[in-house]
Order: sequence, then C-alpha cells, then structure tokens
Amino acid sequence: MIPAGPTFVIHSEPVMPIIEDKKKRKEIIGLLTQAYWMEMETVMNYISNSVNLDGVRAEEIKKSLAADITAEIAHAQLFAKRIKTLSGVAPGSYDFKPSQKSLQPPTDLRDVAHVIRGVIDAEQGAIKHYTKLAKACDGVDFVTQDMVVTILGDEQEHLREFEGFLKEYESK
Ligand SMILES: [Fe+2]
Repeated sequence: MIPAGPTFVIHSEPVMPIIEDKKKRKEIIGLLTQAYWMEMETVMNYISNSVNLDGVRAEEIKKSLAADITAEIAHAQLFAKRIKTLSGVAPGSYDFKPSQKSLQPPTDLRDVAHVIRGVIDAEQGAIKHYTKLAKACDGVDFVTQDMVVTILGDEQEHLREFEGFLKEYESK
C-alpha cells in the first residue's frame, strides 16, 4: 500500500489567520503599513540631516542622527515582518508618499534648531500613530501590540532626548 503523501491545499487565505476578523486584520495591516513608511521616511531624513548641517554646534546632532539610523531601519524591518506574518504584503517604493515636511533640509544649513524641531515633530507623529496602533490591537493581536509598545518606548526616549537638545540650541 502506498502511504498517503502530504496533501496540499492552496489557500488565498491563511490556513489559520492570526486575526480571525478580516476587517480587523485589514485595519491592523493598514496601520502597520503606515508605520513602516513613517520609519522609512525617518531613515531618509536622518541620513540627509546627519550630513547637511554646517558648523561646530551641529556636530553632536549630526552624530546623534547618524547613530539613530540603524535603530529606525530595525523598526521598519519589524513592521515589514509583522505585515508579512499577518498575511499582508510589505509595500514597494511606488506606494511611498512623503509627509515629514518639517524634516526637510533647512535653508540656512547652520540652523540646527530647525532640524531638532523636525525630529521632535516626526517623533510626536510616530508616538501618536503607534499609540493608535497599539490600541487597535487590544484584545485581538497581542504580539503586534507588544512589538509596537516596545517601539513606542524607543520613540518616547528619542523625543525626550531631542527636547533636551532643543533647550540648549534655542538658548544661544
Ligand atoms: Fe522608529
């Protein structure tokens, strides 16, 4: 007798969806996708702002931003991976729409405070969005929630750090 081989079933839907409620899954994947783009845009703007500024006073800020790039890339990777785990698709660059207006390079490249304010703006946006995402996960997806809460903590730390920098750079 030939032993029964493995059976293959092709599903357009996952065999065991992580979030059963389709509407909820779509909502969370949508919020994760937005979070992914926020991180990607932050990476772009941290790279440019970590090289553009001029002057001695800019050096510390440039160094700090350069050092944060890897953390922001890691956040983007976590969001992309979670989208995939929830049976979504991490987007390609054609879906990208910019939104970090205040993180664009300053007209005066000595204007360190402009960049610091831009970072604070971006962090506030991230904190607001990640809080919304964590709330949306409540009771339905604790793994995404746990991941987002950890990332949220990173952004809060970063916000506080840059608020401290702003005090110094605004009181010339
Ligand atoms: Fe981040």
